Amino acid sequence: MMSMLLDSVVGLPQASTFAADVDSLFGFIFWFSVIGLLAVTIALIYFMIKYNRSKVKESETPYIDGHTSSETAVAVFLLLITLVMFAWGWRDYKKMIYAPANAMDINVIGRQWLWQFEYTNGRKMTNEVVVPMGRPIRLLMGSADVLHSFFVPAFRVKQDLVPGAYTTLWFEAKHLGEFDVLCAEYCGTAHSKMLAKVKVVEPAEYDKWQKRWEIKQILGESESASKSDESKPTETLSERGKRAFAEKGCTACHSSDGSKIIGPSVKGIFGSERTFTDGSKTKADENYLRKSLMDPQEQIVEGYQPIMPTFRGVLSDEEINAIIGYIKSLE
Ligand code: CUA
Repeated sequence: MMSMLLDSVVGLPQASTFAADVDSLFGFIFWFSVIGLLAVTIALIYFMIKYNRSKVKESETPYIDGHTSSETAVAVFLLLITLVMFAWGWRDYKKMIYAPANAMDINVIGRQWLWQFEYTNGRKMTNEVVVPMGRPIRLLMGSADVLHSFFVPAFRVKQDLVPGAYTTLWFEAKHLGEFDVLCAEYCGTAHSKMLAKVKVVEPAEYDKWQKRWEIKQILGESESASKSDESKPTETLSERGKRAFAEKGCTACHSSDGSKIIGPSVKGIFGSERTFTDGSKTKADENYLRKSLMDPQEQIVEGYQPIMPTFRGVLSDEEINAIIGYIKSLE
């Protein structure tokens, strides 16, 4: 009964593992506010009647002192309720922020005005993404132009996409079906048209769907093997990254086998701790790698010279995603 009352406010399908928790907290805040409003309104009307001028004998309003104990009680009660909301929110927020280690990565690029998705096998989709039910999915998101926000109401998840950095969002779908993706950050003329779908399918069906595509790519490539094919459809994300890594000249300074050339080897970098010339340290995640490509002079790894040029404007967002996918594959 209690949880029904809490969950019933939102009126959307609870299609992810987060949805019920988010709705419970929302329901608690909603009903607390409704009851609070009613209590204040009833008290207001009661006092209006009780202290109505016609019922007071004196011609002047009597001077009424404060009532310290009841004022303290109200303040402490409201503080406690606020702390409950905070602790409850914090508990759920922590779950939503840290994706489980076994989560499946999908790259997302938001641009005016569409959503591009890319799987690690190299498959790309626009304004539609297919995910398996019951498996944690982690979206690694970036923007090609301005701020956007990836919002799936049925999953109760929302996260901004920021130009020049990665943000992440994870979820585990609980229901089969198609769910709307909205852009929740005003991004220009066609902001309201920046829509996509998340299609949730059975895990077995998802695996088959990917396998079929991969086989088709291989068959397609052997057919067009004689032609020089620029796009190389069979490439996975990391293979494409490996090619871009060589084509953009990265291999001149960075080995992929752990040996030191001019710059550090990219083997085993991802997830490792980096120590810089100023003594500071950081863990090499996607954002660190991206920053190293865009602003290589900002943090110099201990033992190396500040000689790397910036790749800002040289690499497209797709190439940055692919190169980072490649570096991640060299763990
Ligand atoms: Cu993209 Cu609003």
